[in-house]
Amino acid sequence: MATRKSRILSGMQPSGKLHLGNYVGALANWVALQDTHECFYMVADWHAVSTNYSETRRIRSFTREMLLDWLAAGLDPDRSTVFVQSSIPEHAILHLLLSMIVPVPWLERNPTYKEQQEQMADRDLTSYGFMGYPVLQSADILLYRADAVPVGQDQLPHLEITREIARRFNHLYGEVFPEPQALLTQAPKLPGTDGRKMSKSYNNAIYLSDPEPMVRDKLRTMVTDPARKRRNDPGNPDVCPVFDLHKVFSPSGVIDRVNRECRTAAIGCIECKGLLADGVVGKLHPVWERRAALEQDPAAVERAIKSGAERARAVAVETLSAVNAAMHL
Ligand code: TRP
Ligand code: SF4
Repeated sequence: MATRKSRILSGMQPSGKLHLGNYVGALANWVALQDTHECFYMVADWHAVSTNYSETRRIRSFTREMLLDWLAAGLDPDRSTVFVQSSIPEHAILHLLLSMIVPVPWLERNPTYKEQQEQMADRDLTSYGFMGYPVLQSADILLYRADAVPVGQDQLPHLEITREIARRFNHLYGEVFPEPQALLTQAPKLPGTDGRKMSKSYNNAIYLSDPEPMVRDKLRTMVTDPARKRRNDPGNPDVCPVFDLHKVFSPSGVIDRVNRECRTAAIGCIECKGLLADGVVGKLHPVWERRAALEQDPAAVERAIKSGAERARAVAVETLSAVNAAMHL
């Protein structure tokens, strides 16, 4: 007997174009999961409002840019349900119902809540909606009765709250929700061109949409082992951010060679970074090709999220009717 494929749901806030860190840390894994799972991938535009309510103007264009990157990276809207959160009103309804049973102390003690408030001290994040961020995320996941959620380490507290909410709901009203498991994505933090963590806000990122000459340029000027000043100085790949990228993007022969020849100054940084660029460009080639095809077909994104919304909505409506029945509403 054929068993149902395990269902996953994951989401990203619309942040505009994605960089290699987003790709390696999440998107590449989402693409791979399409072969083994029934996949729901959501643009969390309502979540973006929670921290950007005073500046919502860019959310729509960020959503579009990110969706283009998703499709270019290989998310296949025929195999995966790709949709935008705000097009499915059931997320808001389930969020409201769950908010009735979530104790506020669960949200107050969520470590992410305080961390984010401290990190974004320039914004007033005392809103009701921001505190309820994990409740909305729980609604996203539970609405599709997902078995698992591919996430990074930083999202584990939110997933724990989701599981607690599912248990509490099932206990109060009867079994409606499976408890979703975390599918932890093991990915190294990628350094950007300045050696710090790759991030849009540090201006050190290589984007999926950067053309080949720009990728090569950015890598050419990337910082290296700071102790290696002259061509003849031996270097230490263990402290060099270029080598961290080699480990992700280069074939093992190149990694081994750099690891040996850097230490004896047999290879210079310029050649080393050229080899890295070849590896990165090789990985990005299929992404560039799919993007070029998408540029010939400007309605592709619209089509993807329209059919995604139809499929997502059908599941959402079904879950919500089970919820209403369980709650006698
Ligand atoms: N909070 C997630 C993030 O910032 C985005 C998100 C929203 C999400 N809803 C989700 C992730 C549901 C997984 C499942 O990255
Ligand atoms: Fe870094 Fe490569 Fe230069 Fe060694 S040779 S310091 S690994 S860039």
